[in-house]
Amino acid sequence: MSKIEEGGGEIYDSIYTAYCKLISASLDESIHYRHFLIQNDCISIQESTNIISEGTTGLCSWQGAIELSKWCIENKNKFCKKVILELGCGVGLTGLCIIKNCSPKQYIFTDCHKTVLEMVSENVKLNLLYKGNVPAQLNHNRLKLQITHNHTDVKVMELRWEDINKYINEQWIIPDIIIGADILYDADSFYALVLGLKNFLSFNDRYVIIAATIRNVDTISHFVHHLGIFFNS
Ligand SMILES: C[S@@+](CC[C@H](N)C(=O)[O-])C[C@H]1O[C@@H](n2cnc3c(N)ncnc32)[C@H](O)[C@@H]1O
Repeated sequence: MSKIEEGGGEIYDSIYTAYCKLISASLDESIHYRHFLIQNDCISIQESTNIISEGTTGLCSWQGAIELSKWCIENKNKFCKKVILELGCGVGLTGLCIIKNCSPKQYIFTDCHKTVLEMVSENVKLNLLYKGNVPAQLNHNRLKLQITHNHTDVKVMELRWEDINKYINEQWIIPDIIIGADILYDADSFYALVLGLKNFLSFNDRYVIIAATIRNVDTISHFVHHLGIFFNS
């Protein structure tokens, strides 16, 4: 598969499905730590050794998260003092890179999966907690963790893409930027995702950054098609 991808070829979905089944079936699933050296700073990420685990793709770091982290650091002024909401954050690599290197005002990690939210919370604590910096009392059932790191308010929250509108209409601050890495893989989720983004983008000066590894051109075209329908209506 790597050879085909290197040569610019496309791989059939059925081969990915078979590959995912094989690696998810592994009996010795375990947790490991990956260490990313970014701008002379080490970020340690606890993640699953399997790319699909507990029915989610979110328990390991994806290529999109690595590329988006690098891009954000190269463009750190875009994020400085901003409120950033991350969709489908997985185990948290991109967010941790932004928090440690770009000085945002607030960073909200969000995902829909319970175990993913537990693991990203562990990674936030692993990389951002130090003596005297204790997590805040939680006052909302979807809020899973809240801490302050330097001058950044860091939150981990449950948020389904279907509920982006609800989130924006609730009392919380409207984010300046929404970001997401490798979240464009399930065409069934595009309707909810694009609907939520459309509402968010109706506020002035807001924008969305999505890093997508193109594994299947049709899937990305499908997303772009949805964008076209919504934004032209
Ligand atoms: C392929 S993983 C990418 C994780 C991370 N962004 C990265 O690049 O390493 C996709 C993530 O999106 C989350 N996700 C999928 N559908 C979702 C939905 N409808 N609402 C919220 N999160 C969702 C999954 O739980 C998973 O964590």
